[in-house]
Amino acid sequence: MEGVVVLGGSSGYHLAYRVSKLMRAELGEIDVKTFPDGETYIRILSNVENKTVVYINSLQRNPNDKIIETLYTLDTLRDLGASKIIAVIPYMAYARQDERFNPGEAVSIHILAKLFKTIDVDEIYTIDMHLHRISDPTKLFGAKFHNLTGVRELAKYVKQNHEIENTIVIGPDEEAEQWAKIMAEELGGIDYSILEKKRVSAEEVIIQTRDIDVKDKNIVIVDDIISTGGTIVESVKALRRLGAKEIIVTCVHPLLVGKAYYKLLKLDLKDIVGTDTVLSPISKVSVAPVIVEEIRKNT
Ligand code: R5P
Repeated sequence: MEGVVVLGGSSGYHLAYRVSKLMRAELGEIDVKTFPDGETYIRILSNVENKTVVYINSLQRNPNDKIIETLYTLDTLRDLGASKIIAVIPYMAYARQDERFNPGEAVSIHILAKLFKTIDVDEIYTIDMHLHRISDPTKLFGAKFHNLTGVRELAKYVKQNHEIENTIVIGPDEEAEQWAKIMAEELGGIDYSILEKKRVSAEEVIIQTRDIDVKDKNIVIVDDIISTGGTIVESVKALRRLGAKEIIVTCVHPLLVGKAYYKLLKLDLKDIVGTDTVLSPISKVSVAPVIVEEIRKNT
């Protein structure tokens, strides 16, 4: 694509490379450094003047640092004369804090959206962001907002690598029903159901099974995020108590904090797969085709 430069931030190089290849667009370069005192240094090394720039960075691992890096980069791109700025934020941090759940709390995603609004970004693309209590993200972020899904890519992987017979799709909680539905459709219209989750603390959840029949059935679990792994561990235990057979775990954003990956390995699952919105040992599926398809549709 003529006149397009794809740039990756420190958590987006891998996707920038894949997206630039698929778009047949120039892959540009940014120098991102951290000074000894912790401040962030950004230098755009490619010519972006009068060009459409696709900038990709996930706000994960050190989300606060990544936010500063992303906002400084986007503002600099505008300053350097980019004609159109498409910000691709495959993993949007703070999306789960979309309400004041307890008195006095910051509604973090609203504040982050305000920060994006101050920068003149043309479009924002993200993947499976928690939008449960945000009805109009375009208004909130001040830029045309595209919330895409990585679940179809996960389903393609499952279909290519496993037999789908006697299988039911399970979402670990009510919010995961949307992803369970897509996964079930993509796997040929098989059944899906959800569990009930009560969060006790950031690391601890209680999973209850509703009236579901999984005895001697194979399971594909799908969730948006695996963070500490608590949700998946408790879901797998609950499903096994009900007599489930082989279990495949899929998720879009494998944050895998702390010992999460070890916890997953110990479950002896048939397979564990996530996408590359966040690079991890289970990132076997790329969301690059989803991003490119949507950008093409809109440009
Ligand atoms: C929460 O609502 C999300 O959909 C995930 O289920 C959650 O973030 C997973 O977190 P963890 O792996 O720490 O249980």
